[in-house]
Amino acid sequence: MRPSATSEKGSAPSQATFRFRCIGCGLVSNSAAQDFRCPNCGNLLEITDSSWNSLNPTALKALWRERRTLNESIDLSGVWRFRELLPAPQSEQQIVTLREGNTPLYDLPQSSRATGVSRLYAKHQGLNPTGSFKDAGMTVAATFARQAGYRWVACASTGNTSASMAAYAARGGMRSLVLVPEGKISWSKLSQALDYGALTCQLRTDFDGCLRLLQELVRRAPVYQLNSINPFRLEGQKTLAYELLEQLDWDPPDHIIAPGGNLGNSSAIGKALLEMRDLGLIPRLPRLSVIQAEGANALVRTLREAGGKHLVSMQPETRATAIRIGNPASWEKAVKVLQATGGACEEVSEIEIAQAKAEIGAEGIGCEPASAVTLAALKKLLQQGFVKPDETVVLVLTGSLLKDPDYTMEFHRGDLFKGTAHEQAHEQESAKLNPFRHPPVVLDATLDAVIKTLEQADKSDPSNE
Ligand code: F0G
Repeated sequence: MRPSATSEKGSAPSQATFRFRCIGCGLVSNSAAQDFRCPNCGNLLEITDSSWNSLNPTALKALWRERRTLNESIDLSGVWRFRELLPAPQSEQQIVTLREGNTPLYDLPQSSRATGVSRLYAKHQGLNPTGSFKDAGMTVAATFARQAGYRWVACASTGNTSASMAAYAARGGMRSLVLVPEGKISWSKLSQALDYGALTCQLRTDFDGCLRLLQELVRRAPVYQLNSINPFRLEGQKTLAYELLEQLDWDPPDHIIAPGGNLGNSSAIGKALLEMRDLGLIPRLPRLSVIQAEGANALVRTLREAGGKHLVSMQPETRATAIRIGNPASWEKAVKVLQATGGACEEVSEIEIAQAKAEIGAEGIGCEPASAVTLAALKKLLQQGFVKPDETVVLVLTGSLLKDPDYTMEFHRGDLFKGTAHEQAHEQESAKLNPFRHPPVVLDATLDAVIKTLEQADKSDPSNE
């Protein structure tokens, strides 16, 4: 299990220009402990690099655009294409990549019409190699794990991190250990980890319990932690924002709306926006808003009840299992970027999530439930006047529709809330979802039966009026 590489574990390579900086006390160091926490005050670390300050924004934009025409694997990656603003590995041969990034920015014509926001886009990170935004961070963190010579990488997960980690570990010739809450993650995500060869442990606890155990484990065993506490992950996830701004010809949107779980992704997007502003890549900051499910709203409560000063943790419950987290690790980073960009923190109900997910599906795009909180929240933010219809809005869709087929099937069959307290409490509201349901129809295998069904569907189609 001993690392075989020459660089010290968790250290910046000797020629590297990046450093670790504590987000609490500001201590800057060349190396990071296994738990990626400050030895001084215990807060989380982030990566900083003084060489970024001397970059020329115009030259960078031209260079990044030109790389889109090149065929080297490092240029084909939508993450490493932006390598000037990432920590540099000792050599490009170390890079573990699956051609992540390069995800589309879609317009959403139906939701635009319904909400009145004419410039409404979805940045679909679910179209990454393993189906979620995690791949953008994993390529960077797996590269540094391999460079440091680790044989084992590990994470606690609600499913997507583990799928992504297992894939990148396999690509990089490392073993992976997955800790997931038993019965609380989708089969689709679990099956990915199995196929990519992870040692998968289903623990009888929730995500927060898995993460606590992992923190202990990394102090005792030579495994490299790949949760979003790992600052290399967040560096890779910054590229979502670079690519988005490039797709908008560097004209910043007014709003970016992202789901929040463990709060690494919103922290990464916010870090990228602030760095881009400081570097002169963008003239002004978009507002970054973070959205949670009502039943897993630790950040909402932290801001509402504690003014963002301390974490208000909770027992989470939501069918959007990706964000079923009550004790988010990166809450302080998220509070900082919310304050710096002037974004909102909002919560949405299970019914609002289900409807928004069906609406994104009806655009021919689809996403997993956690991603749909963004569209659900947009409607609320418009009502509150925080978002104006003439502003440009980007929703960050974090995971593919195929990540949680059980949810989708139960929704269309009408049993998503069956037997839950939710069903009784919100019976009327739940009925509002009926027009969005398209359950499968079981028929005798006759032409007559199919034609009759087609005619009925055509008659009742509202677009046919
Ligand atoms: N959306 C999806 C689809 C996710 O899988 C996650 C997190 C989030 C949003 C929230 O992102 O944690 O950076 O705030 N999933 C993690 C996992 C926790 O283990 O897969 P976050």
